[in-house]
Amino acid sequence: MAIQADRELACRFGREYFDGPRTQGYGGYVYDGRWKPVARRMAEHYQLDESARILDVGCAKGFLLHDFMELLPKATLAGLDISEYAVLNAMERVRPLLRVGNAKELPWPDHSFDLVLAINTIHNLQLSECKQALREIQRVSRKHAYVVVDAYRTEAQRQRLLEWILTAKTFLHVEEWKQLFQEAGYSGDYYWFILE
Ligand SMILES: C[S@@+](CC[C@H](N)C(=O)[O-])C[C@H]1O[C@@H](n2cnc3c(N)ncnc32)[C@H](O)[C@@H]1O
Repeated sequence: MAIQADRELACRFGREYFDGPRTQGYGGYVYDGRWKPVARRMAEHYQLDESARILDVGCAKGFLLHDFMELLPKATLAGLDISEYAVLNAMERVRPLLRVGNAKELPWPDHSFDLVLAINTIHNLQLSECKQALREIQRVSRKHAYVVVDAYRTEAQRQRLLEWILTAKTFLHVEEWKQLFQEAGYSGDYYWFILE
């Protein structure tokens, strides 16, 4: 069970969250290539080529962007994360592509990207801000978007989230998420992070 002091530290998204003890976050957020097949499958699924423009919201140290860079060296890539620590400690090759900022206010014009990703990011905002972030993702996308959020279908899954989540402020039943997507005008793809 996560304890309050660890949650408070984790929510700062500083060194403790990424590279501190496991009770406060990742326990060492280190590149290991696990995103390579994900980048490949996304490129196939969304038919991305070298002309693609891809944004990762909540990109952390830029691991997924790094793998997109290897796959599509000429694509235009960008990342945004609220964590100054993550951006400063990002992989060298992608660091110049990253900005510190908040998902609820994306600093790009409308329809800037072919694919906007937000994997385990927007649930870290309060409900109303989470909706704002979904609107922003929709606004800056001109084709595709994909978000992953903490969710549950059963009371047992909700209880596990309550016990174990460190940073999420909005975790909803999958049907409530779908309702929120609709209210925000979000028409992109989604996937659930469910504690089984
Ligand atoms: C669970 S991590 C996921 C990182 C990466 N997307 C992945 O899947 O490995 C959540 C990330 O969201 C970032 N984050 C949290 N709140 C945010 C916000 N309001 N705007 C942008 N990024 C945020 C954190 O700093 C962290 O890098």
